[in-house]
Amino acid sequence: MATTTVTQTPCDVKNLELADLGKRRIEWANQSMPVLQSIRKDFIKNQPLKGLRVAACLHVTTETANLMITLRDGGADAVLCASNPLSTQDDVAASLVRDYGIPVYAIKGEDNDTYYSHIMAALDFKPQVTMDDGADLVSTAITKRKDVVGEIIAGTEETTTGVIRLRAMAKAGELPYPIIAVNDALTKHMFDNRYGTGQSTIDGVIRCTNTLLAGSKFVVAGYGWCGRGLASRARGMGADVIVTEIDPIKAIEAVMDGYRVMSMNEAAKIGDVFVTVTGNKNVLSKDHFAAMKDGAVVANSGHFNVEIDIPALEKMAKSKRQTREFVDEYAMGDGRKVYLLGEGRLINLAAAEGHPASVMDMSFANQALSLEYLVKNHKSLEKIVYAVPTDLDKKVAKLKLEAMGVKIDKLTPEQEEYLASWSEGT
Ligand SMILES: NC(=O)c1ccc[n+]([C@@H]2O[C@H](COP(=O)([O-])OP(=O)(O)OC[C@H]3O[C@@H](n4cnc5c(N)ncnc54)[C@H](O)[C@@H]3O)[C@@H](O)[C@H]2O)c1
Repeated sequence: MATTTVTQTPCDVKNLELADLGKRRIEWANQSMPVLQSIRKDFIKNQPLKGLRVAACLHVTTETANLMITLRDGGADAVLCASNPLSTQDDVAASLVRDYGIPVYAIKGEDNDTYYSHIMAALDFKPQVTMDDGADLVSTAITKRKDVVGEIIAGTEETTTGVIRLRAMAKAGELPYPIIAVNDALTKHMFDNRYGTGQSTIDGVIRCTNTLLAGSKFVVAGYGWCGRGLASRARGMGADVIVTEIDPIKAIEAVMDGYRVMSMNEAAKIGDVFVTVTGNKNVLSKDHFAAMKDGAVVANSGHFNVEIDIPALEKMAKSKRQTREFVDEYAMGDGRKVYLLGEGRLINLAAAEGHPASVMDMSFANQALSLEYLVKNHKSLEKIVYAVPTDLDKKVAKLKLEAMGVKIDKLTPEQEEYLASWSEGT
């Protein structure tokens, strides 16, 4: 007999009946998040977030669930909405509501209006702190919900694109409160963006196409933190990796790392799989689609779905159909077919599960510690974007090493003195 799950916790999720699966998967991820676990223990004891209203706009994944539980256990009244219409794991959303009493507004595949209505619903909780991944919460608050901005004391931002947007807001004098750029912590972007995006983007491409990467020409647009990770993982799978860049220094780095570097106009003619990870727009555009081989696969792993000029692809195509889940086939007038994955949205979250928990452990440890820091220090902060304090960043690295059972050396007093001196060491 079918059962109907009811809950007192406010929410808009796909189906609360999915909660059993979500709970098991949240617990599975927790096992790989020892740093967050140790912060959670401390939060339970010391209640640093007691009574704090926190609105988080993050990818609704198993790892995010563990962050939300940590905040709740630290005393926060936390609410969660999606930071991307396609990244929500519906079972996780259901479990957070039913099993952990955390309000969630997120449904995988929601349309644009629902996406923004969910952000509005999170803002209805009148947060004192915002947690963003891409800055949609802050930008919606200042453009459409000025009524709630006054109560917000501070916020955090998870990703490169969000940090860029918030720095632009600060420059224009429009940032309403101080933000900590979690992305800029070394223990975030050096690991999450590089190894997390590298592995999970390949996972997304493979899950939705089942394509063989060995021997394929794999084009990576953008050789930043994510691009480096993606290129190295694609090479590890046996692909012939081609990099495109606009920054001469990054381009030299890619050359010296052993990749072919060329313009996208050249790469478009020879690539089998194209992945954009630039944070920029129209990196793959009309002329590139016109030059691509029959069967070319295009995907994006950058934050917004503007890296591939999808309107141009729609215009050029004679017809379009879905061939597999998350694979749209665009048939061109000349008979060629171009395949767009995951509607051009972050492919690692649209078609796979996002980053593995052990790397999100460090990113979300930075989020939790930054929140605690903001609660203590917000009065002395200006309305600008701050880096994560170095001691917090180092603390996350130390805890991660401890959890991995890795020991490192300590400077001896003699070495400390030497490094602080002009001496040659004789
Ligand atoms: N998929 C995920 O889970 C995930 C995770 C982290 C970050 N991100 C997003 O990925 C994007 C990249 O992040 P990052 O940390 O690597 O940033 P980054 O700034 O380190 O690298 C971006 C690179 O793209 C290059 N670039 C810009 N325009 C270009 C163009 N037209 N052609 C080729 N290269 C171009 C830049 O020169 C730079 O080297 C951002 O949108 C970020 O928010 C996604």
